[in-house]
Amino acid sequence: MMMQESTATVNDLICPLFLVDGKGQRQQISSLPGIDRLSLDNLLIEIEQCLELGVGSFVLFPAVEESLKDKTASYGSNPDNFYLKAATEIKSRFPEIWLMSDVAMDPYSSDGHDGLVKDGKILNDETLEILGTMAVAQANAGFDILGPSDMMDGRVAWIREELDDNGFEETGIMAYSAKYASAYYGPFRDALESAPKSGDKKTYQMDPANRREAIREAELDEEEGADWIMVKPATLYLDVIREIRDHVSTPVSAYNVSGEYAMVKAAAQKGWLDNDTAMVEMLTCIKRAGADAILTYFAKEYAKLVKP
Ligand code: PBG
Repeated sequence: MMMQESTATVNDLICPLFLVDGKGQRQQISSLPGIDRLSLDNLLIEIEQCLELGVGSFVLFPAVEESLKDKTASYGSNPDNFYLKAATEIKSRFPEIWLMSDVAMDPYSSDGHDGLVKDGKILNDETLEILGTMAVAQANAGFDILGPSDMMDGRVAWIREELDDNGFEETGIMAYSAKYASAYYGPFRDALESAPKSGDKKTYQMDPANRREAIREAELDEEEGADWIMVKPATLYLDVIREIRDHVSTPVSAYNVSGEYAMVKAAAQKGWLDNDTAMVEMLTCIKRAGADAILTYFAKEYAKLVKP
């Protein structure tokens, strides 16, 4: 429509995928209706279907068995890690896709935190070492862009340097720059069984009350070499997306998180909201706020709806 200023196009969408080890797996996640944990064989089919609908960007998350988790998240950079091997396989099957990783300890951490925990405290600098090693392992596996979602201080510069030192100058970084300590990550933590075992993430994720701090975080990440800046969650933080869009020269993405998706799904299941109208409005408004790309569990569904 000529008069419509903003439209979310299928090209703008990044589709999150949850990977489990094994074969023939398709595990439902009750708090994320329509999104399943998939083993690689089924995940490859899922990617193919998304590609047919025009969705060509993906972010991959590993659901790791509890027995493989430890305090230092060592499985995250283990060369036998099914997540790393899957990335290599996915990129060799579909070289044209844009595949993003999750650089974070929580999927692999027995504490369920994004940083190394000692005596109940998160150790920032020790965590950077772990993240740097994980980032190099992911770049080596073939990911196009790495997504540090941990919120440790200085991690973008650290990861950039580790990548460059190891010959991965071409691998990009999408920094979760303004990541708020949000209630809306609940279904995601169900998907990965990654909720913190004790404490919360408020010492490293941002206070929802703060806007200026988000801009500072974004500017720092840009200076440290981030190729993309992300705001997360999306819909409660549209003002933050807009401000950051106006402050940085990198592209800006917004993560339309699991809880935002789950709210629409739950209300629609009850007949309290119309699913498609609510979905279109949500994505359009995130776009209007200034997001260049949107990570969203609606990706495939939206692509189906708008398919010409
Ligand atoms: C953690 C991570 C989280 C999400 C993405 N990466 C959860 C958290 O910070 O606890 C949430 C995404 C969503 O809710 O969809 N590294």
